Amino acid sequence: VVGSRERARAEAVVEDLGAKWGDKVARLRAGTNDEAAAAADLVVLATTWEGAVDTARAHADALTGQDVVAMGNGVEKVDREFRPVLPAEGSLSAAVQRAAPGARVAAAFQHVPAQAFAKLDEPIEGDVVVCADSNGTRLRVLELVVSIPNLRGFDGGSLANALGIEAFAAVLLSINLRHKGTGALRLLGVEGHPAEGRR
Ligand SMILES: NC(=O)c1ccc[n+]([C@@H]2O[C@H](COP(=O)([O-])OP(=O)(O)OC[C@H]3O[C@@H](n4cnc5c(N)ncnc54)[C@H](OP(=O)(O)O)[C@@H]3O)[C@@H](O)[C@H]2O)c1
Repeated sequence: VVGSRERARAEAVVEDLGAKWGDKVARLRAGTNDEAAAAADLVVLATTWEGAVDTARAHADALTGQDVVAMGNGVEKVDREFRPVLPAEGSLSAAVQRAAPGARVAAAFQHVPAQAFAKLDEPIEGDVVVCADSNGTRLRVLELVVSIPNLRGFDGGSLANALGIEAFAAVLLSINLRHKGTGALRLLGVEGHPAEGRR
């Protein structure tokens, strides 16, 4: 379920994706954020980072008992660099967890560019570090990560470590700005979470 604050915007997104990708997205349907939060037992919170905590709070009841992937990271641009914006809780993911205490929050995908997600017919080269307090949630999100061709997943420990992955997004964005590139995260010397077919 693709959620939006306005159902019509979700409908437009589902229609656009359907026109572009056909069968690949045949199971997508449009809804409000309320419906999206309640529909799945795995919810990806993909609002702007400024809206993530309020959105989690507004849907805290529906998110209770759900695995929630927080993929946002606070950044601000200052001259020719990006800087991390971290809330009092340490990370945006921890603030989302506090706003929806019954949810099992995992931080993931902060370093994967939106353009890569949009190309459903291409593998994604990069590594994703997953941090969560629940072992089951971390494993489930790692399985989701490695179900995407070529993407590797790594267990980064508890949600306390989300601060590190969120803050590094600002560094990565600054590197790409200054080196005019599209660099992604890649860890050396360690195998990622084993994927079906890559096991
Ligand atoms: N862009 C990237 O390359 C990238 C990479 C990794 C992680 N991220 C993270 O992923 C998240 C989404 O990034 P994006 O670039 O896809 O963002 P985006 O397109 O700017 O925004 C995503 C959606 O958030 C909703 N939204 C906007 N303001 C909101 C508010 N105040 N409260 C609640 N919802 C609001 C809007 O949906 P409706 O108006 O339909 O509700 C909008 O379509 C961000 O948290 C970002 O930090 C982004």
